[in-house]
Amino acid sequence: MVNESRGIYSNLTDYGDPEFSRFIRRAFMSATGYDTEDLERPIVGIADTSSDYNTCHARMPELVEGVKRGVLEAGGLPLVFPTISLHEILFHPTTMYYRNMLAMETEEMIRAQPMDAVVLLGGCDKTVPAQLMAAVSANVPTVFVVTGAMRTGQWRGNRVGACTDCRGYYGRHRAGEITSEELDEVQSVLCSTPGTCMVMGSASTIACVTETLGLTLPGGATPPSGTGDRMRNAVASGRCAVDLARQPIRPREIVTRPNLENALKVLVALGGSTNTIVHLTAIANRVGIKLGIDDLQEISSQIPLLVDCKPSGAVYMEDFHQSGGLPALLKALESELDLDPINVEGRRLGERIDATNPVGNWQTVIRTLDQPLGPTGSLTTLRGSLAPDGAIIKTSAATPELFEHTGPAIVFDGPADAAERLDDPSLCITPDHVLVLRSAGPIAAGMPEAGSLPIPRYLAQQGVKDLVRVSDARMSGTAFGTVVLHCAPESAAGGPLAFVEDGDLIRLSVTDRCIDLLVEKDDLDRRQGGFSPPPLPSRGWARLFAQHVLQANEGVDFDFLAGHE
Ligand code: FES
Repeated sequence: MVNESRGIYSNLTDYGDPEFSRFIRRAFMSATGYDTEDLERPIVGIADTSSDYNTCHARMPELVEGVKRGVLEAGGLPLVFPTISLHEILFHPTTMYYRNMLAMETEEMIRAQPMDAVVLLGGCDKTVPAQLMAAVSANVPTVFVVTGAMRTGQWRGNRVGACTDCRGYYGRHRAGEITSEELDEVQSVLCSTPGTCMVMGSASTIACVTETLGLTLPGGATPPSGTGDRMRNAVASGRCAVDLARQPIRPREIVTRPNLENALKVLVALGGSTNTIVHLTAIANRVGIKLGIDDLQEISSQIPLLVDCKPSGAVYMEDFHQSGGLPALLKALESELDLDPINVEGRRLGERIDATNPVGNWQTVIRTLDQPLGPTGSLTTLRGSLAPDGAIIKTSAATPELFEHTGPAIVFDGPADAAERLDDPSLCITPDHVLVLRSAGPIAAGMPEAGSLPIPRYLAQQGVKDLVRVSDARMSGTAFGTVVLHCAPESAAGGPLAFVEDGDLIRLSVTDRCIDLLVEKDDLDRRQGGFSPPPLPSRGWARLFAQHVLQANEGVDFDFLAGHE
Protein backbone atom coordinates (compact mmCIF):
# COMPACT_ATOMS: atom_id res chain seq x y z
CA MET A 1 0.00 0.00 0.00
CA VAL A 2 1.43 3.36 -0.98
CA ASN A 3 1.99 5.89 1.79
CA GLU A 4 0.30 9.01 0.47
CA SER A 5 2.61 11.46 2.24
CA ARG A 6 5.88 9.86 1.20
CA GLY A 7 7.71 8.81 -1.92
CA ILE A 8 6.18 9.96 -5.17
CA TYR A 9 3.19 11.41 -3.32
CA SER A 10 5.20 13.77 -1.14
CA ASN A 11 5.27 17.49 -1.98
CA LEU A 12 2.15 17.26 -4.16
CA THR A 13 1.54 19.85 -6.86
CA ASP A 14 -1.39 22.08 -5.90
CA TYR A 15 -4.28 21.56 -8.28
CA GLY A 16 -6.97 21.93 -5.61
CA ASP A 17 -7.61 18.17 -5.68
CA PRO A 18 -4.91 15.94 -4.11
CA GLU A 19 -6.32 12.77 -5.70
CA PHE A 20 -6.05 14.37 -9.13
CA SER A 21 -2.48 15.45 -8.30
CA ARG A 22 -1.55 11.85 -7.43
CA PHE A 23 -3.30 10.50 -10.55
CA ILE A 24 -1.63 12.91 -12.94
CA ARG A 25 1.75 12.36 -11.26
CA ARG A 26 1.43 8.59 -11.88
CA ALA A 27 0.42 9.29 -15.48
CA PHE A 28 3.45 11.46 -16.22
CA MET A 29 5.87 9.10 -14.46
CA SER A 30 4.54 6.21 -16.54
CA ALA A 31 5.68 8.10 -19.63
CA THR A 32 9.29 7.34 -18.65
CA GLY A 33 8.59 3.72 -17.77
CA TYR A 34 7.93 3.86 -14.04
CA ASP A 35 5.17 1.48 -12.97
CA THR A 36 3.29 0.98 -9.71
CA GLU A 37 6.06 -1.20 -8.28
CA ASP A 38 8.64 1.52 -8.93
CA LEU A 39 6.46 4.23 -7.46
CA GLU A 40 5.96 2.33 -4.21
CA ARG A 41 9.69 2.55 -3.49
CA PRO A 42 11.30 5.24 -1.34
CA ILE A 43 12.56 8.02 -3.56
CA VAL A 44 16.15 9.24 -3.36
CA GLY A 45 16.79 12.54 -5.12
CA ILE A 46 20.30 12.91 -6.51
CA ALA A 47 21.55 16.48 -7.02
CA ASP A 48 23.89 16.52 -10.01
CA THR A 49 26.25 19.49 -10.27
CA SER A 50 28.15 18.34 -13.33
CA SER A 51 28.76 20.90 -16.05
CA ASP A 52 31.09 21.37 -18.98
CA TYR A 53 32.11 24.55 -17.14
CA ASN A 54 33.29 22.57 -14.12
CA THR A 55 36.40 20.48 -14.69
CA CYS A 56 36.48 19.59 -10.98
CA HIS A 57 33.19 17.72 -11.56
CA ALA A 58 34.15 16.07 -14.87
CA ARG A 59 33.94 12.57 -13.36
CA MET A 60 30.63 13.29 -11.67
CA PRO A 61 28.43 11.54 -14.29
CA GLU A 62 29.97 8.17 -13.37
CA LEU A 63 29.51 8.93 -9.66
CA VAL A 64 25.84 9.70 -10.32
CA GLU A 65 25.55 6.28 -11.97
CA GLY A 66 27.23 4.75 -8.93
CA VAL A 67 24.80 6.41 -6.53
CA LYS A 68 21.85 5.27 -8.69
CA ARG A 69 23.16 1.71 -8.60
CA GLY A 70 23.38 1.80 -4.82
CA VAL A 71 19.85 3.18 -4.53
CA LEU A 72 18.43 0.49 -6.82
CA GLU A 73 20.35 -2.28 -5.01
CA ALA A 74 18.77 -1.17 -1.74
CA GLY A 75 15.26 -1.05 -3.17
CA GLY A 76 14.87 2.68 -3.69
CA LEU A 77 13.97 4.74 -6.72
CA PRO A 78 16.74 7.19 -7.75
CA LEU A 79 15.71 10.41 -9.45
CA VAL A 80 18.49 12.70 -10.63
CA PHE A 81 17.95 16.44 -10.81
CA PRO A 82 20.32 19.21 -11.92
CA THR A 83 21.37 22.27 -10.01
CA ILE A 84 23.81 24.98 -10.99
CA SER A 85 27.49 24.14 -10.86
CA LEU A 86 30.14 26.52 -9.50
CA HIS A 87 33.66 26.20 -10.82
CA GLU A 88 36.18 28.31 -9.01
CA ILE A 89 38.30 29.12 -12.03
CA LEU A 90 35.64 29.78 -14.67
CA PHE A 91 33.30 32.08 -12.71
CA HIS A 92 33.23 35.87 -12.69
CA PRO A 93 33.68 37.67 -10.36
CA THR A 94 33.98 34.76 -7.89
CA THR A 95 32.01 31.63 -7.03
CA MET A 96 31.41 33.08 -3.55
CA TYR A 97 29.03 35.52 -5.22
CA TYR A 98 26.92 32.50 -6.29
CA ARG A 99 27.29 30.24 -3.23
CA ASN A 100 24.05 31.52 -1.76
CA MET A 101 22.32 31.09 -5.12
CA LEU A 102 23.26 27.39 -5.21
CA ALA A 103 22.28 27.05 -1.54
CA MET A 104 18.87 28.57 -2.18
CA GLU A 105 18.31 26.57 -5.36
CA THR A 106 19.30 23.27 -3.75
CA GLU A 107 17.15 23.90 -0.66
CA GLU A 108 14.12 24.80 -2.75
CA MET A 109 14.56 21.87 -5.17
CA ILE A 110 14.69 19.48 -2.20
CA ARG A 111 11.56 21.06 -0.78
CA ALA A 112 9.68 21.26 -4.08
CA GLN A 113 10.14 17.74 -5.46
CA PRO A 114 9.08 14.37 -4.10
CA MET A 115 11.98 12.72 -2.24
CA ASP A 116 12.43 10.83 1.01
CA ALA A 117 16.21 11.33 1.08
CA VAL A 118 18.74 13.09 -1.07
CA VAL A 119 22.31 12.55 -2.17
CA LEU A 120 24.15 15.80 -2.86
CA LEU A 121 27.12 15.55 -5.22
CA GLY A 122 29.63 18.38 -5.16
CA GLY A 123 33.33 19.01 -4.98
CA CYS A 124 34.64 22.33 -6.23
CA ASP A 125 35.12 24.95 -3.54
CA LYS A 126 31.72 26.54 -3.01
CA THR A 127 29.49 23.65 -4.10
CA VAL A 128 29.69 21.57 -0.94
CA PRO A 129 29.35 24.59 1.42
CA ALA A 130 26.26 25.70 -0.51
CA GLN A 131 24.83 22.18 -0.33
CA LEU A 132 25.56 21.95 3.41
CA MET A 133 23.65 25.21 3.93
CA ALA A 134 20.78 23.81 1.85
CA ALA A 135 20.80 20.48 3.66
CA VAL A 136 20.41 21.91 7.15
CA SER A 137 17.68 24.27 5.96
CA ALA A 138 15.64 21.69 4.01
CA ASN A 139 16.34 19.07 6.71
CA VAL A 140 15.53 16.09 4.49
CA PRO A 141 17.82 13.09 5.21
CA THR A 142 21.00 13.79 3.22
CA VAL A 143 24.21 12.04 2.25
CA PHE A 144 27.10 13.88 0.60
CA VAL A 145 29.35 12.53 -2.13
CA VAL A 146 32.35 14.58 -3.26
CA THR A 147 34.13 14.20 -6.56
CA GLY A 148 37.56 13.70 -5.00
CA ALA A 149 40.91 15.34 -5.60
CA MET A 150 43.04 15.25 -8.74
CA ARG A 151 46.23 13.19 -8.89
CA THR A 152 49.58 14.97 -8.95
CA GLY A 153 51.66 15.55 -12.09
CA GLN A 154 55.41 15.83 -12.71
CA TRP A 155 57.49 18.66 -14.13
CA ARG A 156 61.17 17.99 -14.74
CA GLY A 157 61.29 15.48 -11.93
CA ASN A 158 59.29 17.59 -9.48
CA ARG A 159 55.84 16.60 -8.27
CA VAL A 160 53.32 19.36 -8.97
CA GLY A 161 49.66 19.95 -8.27
CA ALA A 162 46.89 22.51 -8.20
CA CYS A 163 46.90 25.00 -6.92
CA THR A 164 49.59 25.76 -4.35
CA ASP A 165 52.13 24.97 -7.06
CA CYS A 166 50.14 27.10 -9.59
CA ARG A 167 50.84 30.07 -7.36
CA GLY A 168 54.40 29.02 -6.58
CA TYR A 169 55.46 28.59 -10.21
CA TYR A 170 53.57 31.70 -11.33
CA GLY A 171 55.35 33.66 -8.60
CA ARG A 172 58.70 32.28 -9.79
CA HIS A 173 57.83 33.38 -13.32
CA ARG A 174 57.07 36.91 -12.08
CA ALA A 175 60.38 36.87 -10.28
CA GLY A 176 62.14 36.00 -13.56
CA GLU A 177 63.22 32.56 -12.30
CA ILE A 178 61.39 30.58 -15.02
CA THR A 179 60.58 31.54 -18.61
CA SER A 180 57.18 31.81 -20.30
CA GLU A 181 57.94 28.59 -22.20
CA GLU A 182 58.70 26.77 -18.97
CA LEU A 183 55.54 28.15 -17.41
CA ASP A 184 53.58 26.73 -20.38
CA GLU A 185 55.11 23.32 -19.65
CA VAL A 186 54.09 23.55 -15.99
CA GLN A 187 50.58 24.62 -16.98
CA SER A 188 50.02 21.35 -18.83
CA VAL A 189 50.84 19.14 -15.83
CA LEU A 190 49.46 21.09 -12.86
CA CYS A 191 45.97 19.59 -13.28
CA SER A 192 46.87 16.18 -14.60
CA THR A 193 43.42 14.58 -14.05
CA PRO A 194 39.88 15.84 -13.46
CA GLY A 195 38.97 16.39 -9.82
CA THR A 196 39.29 19.03 -7.13
CA CYS A 197 42.53 20.77 -6.17
CA MET A 198 44.84 18.13 -4.68
CA VAL A 199 46.16 20.16 -1.76
CA MET A 200 44.42 21.09 1.51
CA GLY A 201 42.59 23.96 -0.19
CA SER A 202 38.97 24.87 0.32
CA ALA A 203 37.50 21.86 -1.51
CA SER A 204 39.61 19.31 0.37
CA THR A 205 39.09 21.05 3.70
CA ILE A 206 35.31 21.21 3.35
CA ALA A 207 35.23 17.56 2.23
CA CYS A 208 37.07 16.64 5.45
CA VAL A 209 34.74 18.84 7.50
CA THR A 210 31.69 17.18 5.92
CA GLU A 211 33.02 13.75 6.80
CA THR A 212 33.81 14.93 10.34
CA LEU A 213 30.23 16.11 10.69
CA GLY A 214 29.11 12.64 9.60
CA LEU A 215 27.32 13.74 6.46
CA THR A 216 29.50 11.62 4.19
CA LEU A 217 30.13 7.97 4.89
CA PRO A 218 33.36 7.27 6.80
CA GLY A 219 36.32 7.50 4.45
CA GLY A 220 34.35 9.50 1.90
CA ALA A 221 36.36 12.72 1.96
CA THR A 222 39.70 11.75 0.48
CA PRO A 223 39.57 9.02 -2.22
CA PRO A 224 40.99 10.66 -5.36
CA SER A 225 38.77 11.30 -8.35
CA GLY A 226 38.40 8.39 -10.76
CA THR A 227 39.40 5.63 -8.33
CA GLY A 228 37.57 2.51 -7.24
CA ASP A 229 37.54 3.87 -3.70
CA ARG A 230 35.72 6.94 -4.92
CA MET A 231 33.16 4.91 -6.89
CA ARG A 232 32.55 2.49 -4.01
CA ASN A 233 31.80 5.47 -1.78
CA ALA A 234 29.21 6.65 -4.31
CA VAL A 235 27.50 3.25 -4.47
CA ALA A 236 27.50 2.85 -0.68
CA SER A 237 26.09 6.37 -0.32
CA GLY A 238 23.19 5.40 -2.56
CA ARG A 239 22.44 2.42 -0.32
CA CYS A 240 22.79 4.59 2.77
CA ALA A 241 20.31 7.11 1.36
CA VAL A 242 17.67 4.37 1.04
CA ASP A 243 18.25 3.40 4.67
CA LEU A 244 17.79 7.06 5.58
CA ALA A 245 14.59 7.25 3.54
CA ARG A 246 13.21 4.34 5.56
CA GLN A 247 14.55 5.43 8.94
CA PRO A 248 15.20 9.15 8.73
CA ILE A 249 18.13 10.83 10.44
CA ARG A 250 17.92 14.48 9.51
CA PRO A 251 20.80 16.93 8.99
CA ARG A 252 19.80 19.05 11.98
CA GLU A 253 20.11 15.95 14.23
CA ILE A 254 23.70 15.64 12.99
CA VAL A 255 24.85 19.27 12.78
CA THR A 256 24.97 20.12 16.50
CA ARG A 257 27.28 22.51 18.35
CA PRO A 258 29.58 19.73 19.64
CA ASN A 259 29.83 18.40 16.12
CA LEU A 260 30.59 21.84 14.67
CA GLU A 261 33.31 22.25 17.30
CA ASN A 262 34.73 18.89 16.19
CA ALA A 263 34.77 20.28 12.66
CA LEU A 264 36.70 23.36 13.81
CA LYS A 265 39.25 21.11 15.54
CA VAL A 266 39.74 19.18 12.32
CA LEU A 267 40.04 22.43 10.36
CA VAL A 268 42.87 23.62 12.63
CA ALA A 269 44.66 20.25 12.66
CA LEU A 270 44.54 20.23 8.86
CA GLY A 271 45.90 23.79 8.59
CA GLY A 272 42.88 24.05 6.33
CA SER A 273 41.31 26.80 4.30
CA THR A 274 40.36 30.11 5.91
CA ASN A 275 37.19 30.00 3.81
CA THR A 276 35.91 27.17 5.98
CA ILE A 277 35.20 29.38 8.99
CA VAL A 278 32.98 31.59 6.82
CA HIS A 279 31.03 28.56 5.57
CA LEU A 280 30.74 26.93 9.00
CA THR A 281 29.46 30.20 10.45
CA ALA A 282 26.77 30.34 7.76
CA ILE A 283 25.79 26.69 8.28
CA ALA A 284 25.61 27.13 12.06
CA ASN A 285 23.57 30.31 11.69
CA ARG A 286 20.98 28.36 9.72
CA VAL A 287 20.49 25.91 12.58
CA GLY A 288 20.35 28.68 15.17
CA ILE A 289 23.88 28.18 16.53
CA LYS A 290 26.18 31.16 16.98
CA LEU A 291 29.59 30.01 15.84
CA GLY A 292 32.39 32.26 14.71
CA ILE A 293 35.95 33.42 14.97
CA ASP A 294 35.99 33.47 18.76
CA ASP A 295 35.13 29.74 18.80
CA LEU A 296 37.81 29.19 16.18
CA GLN A 297 40.38 31.10 18.24
CA GLU A 298 39.68 29.13 21.39
CA ILE A 299 40.06 25.84 19.51
CA SER A 300 43.02 27.03 17.48
CA SER A 301 44.93 27.84 20.68
CA GLN A 302 44.51 24.20 21.82
CA ILE A 303 44.94 22.12 18.65
CA PRO A 304 48.29 21.88 16.83
CA LEU A 305 48.89 21.37 13.13
CA LEU A 306 48.88 17.62 12.43
CA VAL A 307 48.58 17.11 8.67
CA ASP A 308 51.57 17.57 6.37
CA CYS A 309 49.63 18.71 3.33
CA LYS A 310 50.27 21.77 1.15
CA PRO A 311 49.99 24.73 1.58
CA SER A 312 50.69 24.30 5.33
CA GLY A 313 52.82 21.21 4.75
CA ALA A 314 54.70 19.39 2.01
CA VAL A 315 52.59 16.69 0.36
CA TYR A 316 49.28 16.20 -1.44
CA MET A 317 45.78 14.84 -0.89
CA GLU A 318 46.58 11.43 -2.39
CA ASP A 319 49.30 11.03 0.27
CA PHE A 320 46.84 12.02 2.99
CA HIS A 321 44.36 9.47 1.60
CA GLN A 322 46.97 6.71 1.45
CA SER A 323 47.89 7.49 5.06
CA GLY A 324 44.38 6.75 6.23
CA GLY A 325 42.68 10.02 5.35
CA LEU A 326 40.19 11.67 7.62
CA PRO A 327 39.43 8.58 9.74
CA ALA A 328 43.11 8.38 10.71
CA LEU A 329 43.17 12.08 11.56
CA LEU A 330 40.07 11.64 13.74
CA LYS A 331 41.87 8.82 15.53
CA ALA A 332 44.88 11.08 16.11
CA LEU A 333 42.58 13.79 17.48
CA GLU A 334 40.35 11.42 19.47
CA SER A 335 41.20 12.77 22.94
CA GLU A 336 40.17 16.28 21.85
CA LEU A 337 36.87 15.38 20.19
CA ASP A 338 33.32 15.01 21.44
CA LEU A 339 32.64 11.38 20.59
CA ASP A 340 28.84 11.45 20.85
CA PRO A 341 27.64 13.08 17.61
CA ILE A 342 26.04 10.62 15.19
CA ASN A 343 26.55 10.35 11.45
CA VAL A 344 24.25 9.43 8.55
CA GLU A 345 24.44 5.79 9.60
CA GLY A 346 23.39 6.66 13.15
CA ARG A 347 26.85 5.69 14.44
CA ARG A 348 28.54 7.77 17.14
CA LEU A 349 31.88 9.34 16.29
CA GLY A 350 33.47 7.19 19.01
CA GLU A 351 32.23 4.03 17.25
CA ARG A 352 33.59 5.24 13.94
CA ILE A 353 37.00 5.95 15.48
CA ASP A 354 37.05 2.55 17.23
CA ALA A 355 36.55 0.93 13.83
CA THR A 356 39.52 2.80 12.35
CA ASN A 357 42.81 0.97 12.11
CA PRO A 358 45.32 2.91 10.05
CA VAL A 359 48.25 0.84 8.84
CA GLY A 360 51.77 1.40 7.53
CA ASN A 361 53.57 4.70 7.89
CA TRP A 362 50.41 6.74 8.36
CA GLN A 363 52.02 8.99 10.97
CA THR A 364 54.45 10.37 8.36
CA VAL A 365 51.65 12.52 6.93
CA ILE A 366 49.25 12.54 9.89
CA ARG A 367 51.09 13.41 13.07
CA THR A 368 50.03 12.80 16.64
CA LEU A 369 49.12 15.35 19.32
CA ASP A 370 52.36 14.41 21.12
CA GLN A 371 54.51 14.98 18.04
CA PRO A 372 52.66 17.52 15.90
CA LEU A 373 53.84 18.95 12.60
CA GLY A 374 53.45 22.52 13.79
CA PRO A 375 52.38 24.55 16.81
CA THR A 376 48.86 25.47 17.84
CA GLY A 377 47.26 28.43 16.13
CA SER A 378 47.49 27.40 12.46
CA LEU A 379 44.56 29.77 11.95
CA THR A 380 44.69 32.88 14.10
CA THR A 381 41.89 35.39 14.46
CA LEU A 382 42.67 39.06 14.84
CA ARG A 383 40.82 42.13 16.01
CA GLY A 384 41.82 45.76 16.20
CA SER A 385 41.07 49.18 14.86
CA LEU A 386 41.26 47.86 11.28
CA ALA A 387 38.93 44.95 11.97
CA PRO A 388 36.62 45.64 14.94
CA ASP A 389 34.49 42.61 14.04
CA GLY A 390 37.44 40.39 13.29
CA ALA A 391 39.86 39.15 10.69
CA ILE A 392 41.84 35.96 10.13
CA ILE A 393 45.38 34.94 9.19
CA LYS A 394 46.60 31.47 8.27
CA THR A 395 49.83 31.46 10.22
CA SER A 396 50.72 27.92 9.18
CA ALA A 397 51.16 29.19 5.59
CA ALA A 398 52.68 32.58 6.47
CA THR A 399 56.19 33.92 7.17
CA PRO A 400 57.02 33.90 10.93
CA GLU A 401 59.41 36.86 10.51
CA LEU A 402 56.40 39.00 9.53
CA PHE A 403 54.15 37.97 12.43
CA GLU A 404 55.16 41.13 14.30
CA HIS A 405 55.33 43.93 11.78
CA THR A 406 54.60 47.65 11.54
CA GLY A 407 54.80 49.35 8.16
CA PRO A 408 53.34 52.06 5.96
CA ALA A 409 50.22 51.30 3.91
CA ILE A 410 49.88 51.27 0.15
CA VAL A 411 46.16 51.25 -0.60
CA PHE A 412 44.40 49.65 -3.58
CA ASP A 413 40.75 50.42 -4.12
CA GLY A 414 39.49 47.06 -5.38
CA PRO A 415 41.03 44.15 -7.31
CA ALA A 416 41.02 46.06 -10.62
CA ASP A 417 43.01 48.93 -9.12
CA ALA A 418 45.52 46.45 -7.68
CA ALA A 419 45.86 44.69 -11.03
CA GLU A 420 46.51 48.03 -12.74
CA ARG A 421 48.99 49.60 -10.32
CA LEU A 422 50.68 46.85 -8.30
CA ASP A 423 53.68 46.54 -10.61
CA ASP A 424 54.11 50.30 -11.07
CA PRO A 425 57.67 51.05 -9.83
CA SER A 426 56.69 54.66 -9.06
CA LEU A 427 54.75 53.36 -6.03
CA CYS A 428 58.18 52.53 -4.53
CA ILE A 429 56.81 49.60 -2.52
CA THR A 430 59.42 48.14 -0.16
CA PRO A 431 59.40 44.91 1.88
CA ASP A 432 58.34 47.06 4.85
CA HIS A 433 55.12 48.20 3.24
CA VAL A 434 51.70 46.75 4.07
CA LEU A 435 49.54 46.24 0.98
CA VAL A 436 45.92 47.15 1.69
CA LEU A 437 43.15 45.92 -0.59
CA ARG A 438 39.70 47.32 0.08
CA SER A 439 36.39 47.32 -1.82
CA ALA A 440 36.75 43.55 -2.03
CA GLY A 441 34.32 42.48 0.69
CA PRO A 442 30.91 40.83 0.33
CA ILE A 443 28.89 43.95 -0.55
CA ALA A 444 31.51 45.58 -2.73
CA ALA A 445 32.67 42.62 -4.79
CA GLY A 446 31.14 39.32 -3.63
CA MET A 447 34.29 38.73 -1.55
CA PRO A 448 36.66 37.30 -4.17
CA GLU A 449 39.83 35.33 -3.40
CA ALA A 450 41.89 38.43 -4.15
CA GLY A 451 43.42 38.92 -0.70
CA SER A 452 46.76 37.25 -1.49
CA LEU A 453 47.89 40.05 -3.82
CA PRO A 454 50.96 39.08 -5.82
CA ILE A 455 54.33 40.36 -4.74
CA PRO A 456 55.06 43.42 -6.95
CA ARG A 457 57.16 42.21 -9.87
CA TYR A 458 60.16 44.43 -9.12
CA LEU A 459 60.28 43.16 -5.52
CA ALA A 460 59.82 39.54 -6.61
CA GLN A 461 62.79 39.99 -8.95
CA GLN A 462 64.85 41.14 -5.95
CA GLY A 463 63.97 37.89 -4.20
CA VAL A 464 61.19 39.20 -1.93
CA LYS A 465 58.87 36.26 -1.24
CA ASP A 466 56.30 37.75 1.13
CA LEU A 467 54.76 41.02 2.28
CA VAL A 468 52.07 41.76 4.84
CA ARG A 469 48.77 42.12 3.02
CA VAL A 470 45.46 43.19 4.57
CA SER A 471 42.01 43.13 3.00
CA ASP A 472 38.29 42.55 3.31
CA ALA A 473 38.63 39.83 0.65
CA ARG A 474 39.23 36.08 1.03
CA MET A 475 42.09 34.00 -0.33
CA SER A 476 42.19 30.58 -1.88
CA GLY A 477 42.75 27.74 0.54
CA THR A 478 45.65 26.75 -1.70
CA ALA A 479 47.42 30.09 -1.26
CA PHE A 480 50.13 31.13 1.18
CA GLY A 481 51.71 34.29 2.58
CA THR A 482 51.31 36.72 5.47
CA VAL A 483 47.82 37.70 4.47
CA VAL A 484 45.22 39.19 6.82
CA LEU A 485 41.77 38.40 5.44
CA HIS A 486 38.04 38.91 6.06
CA CYS A 487 38.44 42.31 7.81
CA ALA A 488 34.99 43.14 9.12
CA PRO A 489 33.11 45.31 8.66
CA GLU A 490 34.22 45.64 5.03
CA SER A 491 35.07 49.03 3.55
CA ALA A 492 31.80 49.23 1.58
CA ALA A 493 29.91 48.91 4.87
CA GLY A 494 31.90 51.77 6.39
CA GLY A 495 34.54 49.57 8.00
CA PRO A 496 37.90 51.14 8.89
CA LEU A 497 39.64 49.85 5.75
CA ALA A 498 37.68 52.54 3.89
CA PHE A 499 39.65 55.26 5.67
CA VAL A 500 43.23 54.05 5.29
CA GLU A 501 45.47 56.38 3.31
CA ASP A 502 48.84 55.69 1.69
CA GLY A 503 51.57 56.08 4.28
CA ASP A 504 49.41 55.37 7.36
CA LEU A 505 51.17 52.97 9.69
CA ILE A 506 49.58 49.55 10.18
CA ARG A 507 50.59 47.14 12.93
CA LEU A 508 50.15 43.37 12.71
CA SER A 509 50.84 41.34 15.84
CA VAL A 510 50.06 37.64 15.75
CA THR A 511 51.18 37.41 19.39
CA ASP A 512 48.68 40.07 20.49
CA ARG A 513 46.18 38.91 17.83
CA CYS A 514 45.65 42.43 16.53
CA ILE A 515 45.59 44.38 13.30
CA ASP A 516 45.65 48.11 13.99
CA LEU A 517 45.60 51.33 12.02
CA LEU A 518 47.95 53.71 13.85
CA VAL A 519 46.10 56.93 13.10
CA GLU A 520 44.97 59.53 15.62
CA LYS A 521 41.28 59.26 16.52
CA ASP A 522 40.56 62.85 15.45
CA ASP A 523 42.04 62.15 12.05
CA LEU A 524 40.01 58.97 11.68
CA ASP A 525 36.78 60.70 12.76
CA ARG A 526 37.37 63.39 10.14
CA ARG A 527 37.90 60.78 7.41
CA GLN A 528 34.82 58.81 8.48
CA GLY A 529 32.67 61.93 8.17
CA GLY A 530 33.13 61.84 4.42
CA PHE A 531 31.98 58.23 3.97
CA SER A 532 29.21 57.37 1.57
CA PRO A 533 28.31 53.74 0.73
CA PRO A 534 28.52 52.52 -2.86
CA PRO A 535 25.27 52.81 -4.86
CA LEU A 536 22.96 49.78 -4.88
CA PRO A 537 22.92 47.84 -8.15
CA SER A 538 19.69 48.59 -10.00
CA ARG A 539 18.28 45.09 -10.45
CA GLY A 540 18.53 41.32 -10.28
CA TRP A 541 20.91 39.11 -8.31
CA ALA A 542 23.38 41.97 -7.82
CA ARG A 543 20.74 44.04 -6.04
CA LEU A 544 19.44 41.14 -3.92
CA PHE A 545 23.01 40.22 -2.99
CA ALA A 546 24.11 43.75 -2.03
CA GLN A 547 20.95 44.40 -0.02
CA HIS A 548 20.98 41.20 2.02
CA VAL A 549 24.49 39.76 2.27
CA LEU A 550 25.95 39.53 5.77
CA GLN A 551 29.53 40.34 6.68
CA ALA A 552 32.38 37.82 6.84
CA ASN A 553 32.08 37.32 10.60
CA GLU A 554 28.42 36.38 10.06
CA GLY A 555 29.05 33.87 7.27
CA VAL A 556 28.26 35.94 4.12
CA ASP A 557 24.84 34.30 3.98
CA PHE A 558 21.73 36.36 3.29
CA ASP A 559 20.09 37.89 6.34
CA PHE A 560 16.72 36.29 5.47
CA LEU A 561 18.17 32.75 5.39
CA ALA A 562 19.36 32.57 8.98
CA GLY A 563 17.48 30.20 11.28
CA HIS A 564 14.84 27.76 10.07
CA GLU A 565 11.08 27.23 10.17
FE1 FES B 1 37.74 23.33 -8.11
FE2 FES B 1 40.12 24.01 -6.86
S1 FES B 1 39.23 24.84 -8.68
S2 FES B 1 38.56 22.65 -6.22
